[in-house]
Amino acid sequence: MKRGFCLTLLFVIILHLNINVHEVDACSPSGKVRGSRPPPGQCNTENDSDCCKQGKMYTIYKCSPPVTSHTKAVLTINSFEKGGDGGGPSECDNQYHSDDTPVVALSTGWFNHESRCLKNITISGNGRSVVAMVVDECDSTMGCDSDHDYQPPCPNNIVDASKAVWEALGVPHSDWGGLDIVWSDA
Ligand SMILES: *[C@@H]1O[C@H](CO)[C@@H](O)[C@H](O)[C@H]1NC(C)=O
Ligand SMILES: *[C@@H]1O[C@H](CO)[C@@H](O)[C@H](O)[C@H]1NC(C)=O
Repeated sequence: MKRGFCLTLLFVIILHLNINVHEVDACSPSGKVRGSRPPPGQCNTENDSDCCKQGKMYTIYKCSPPVTSHTKAVLTINSFEKGGDGGGPSECDNQYHSDDTPVVALSTGWFNHESRCLKNITISGNGRSVVAMVVDECDSTMGCDSDHDYQPPCPNNIVDASKAVWEALGVPHSDWGGLDIVWSDA
């Protein structure tokens, strides 16, 4: 009886520790923003940019899932050139970047207060890998305002990549956008 009780207690403790680990790991939403209709000329949809919809609620995050040696993410496409759909110059170096160079923006949590700025990450997807430099943040904390070209806040698991990254992964042009990938610090 006593031994059984001890085992049960141990089991309960282990279960409790597990739950705690998950609580620490989990990244919960930090709120929502309400979409407003982009003023005329704002939010260029030319390259499938998503524009905020009037009254729609968008979830915001200050965190991203924990980084491992094979962090799961969704690869999206962005232009880092002047006049492209990425808005202003990149946050890391206040410069524009050619879309022919492998550069990315990371969701706020992974961008981690510029700690990955100008560092390389390895992106694996479509059976190939590519090394790309982090130059910008994909803002998960705000959106649907003029600063973000009336685009919704970024989900918290995004690697937003230049054309060069998509080409290096050998993804056919017609399939660019929304690819499941894994990434790690290079
Ligand atoms: C859309 O993509 C094309 C080809 O990549 C580029 O030339 C053009 O500037 C882009 N337009 C916008 C608004 O980003
Ligand atoms: C990132 O990769 C590029 C191209 O491979 C390389 O030229 C550059 O030195 C690397 N940067 C860092 C910080 O490792």
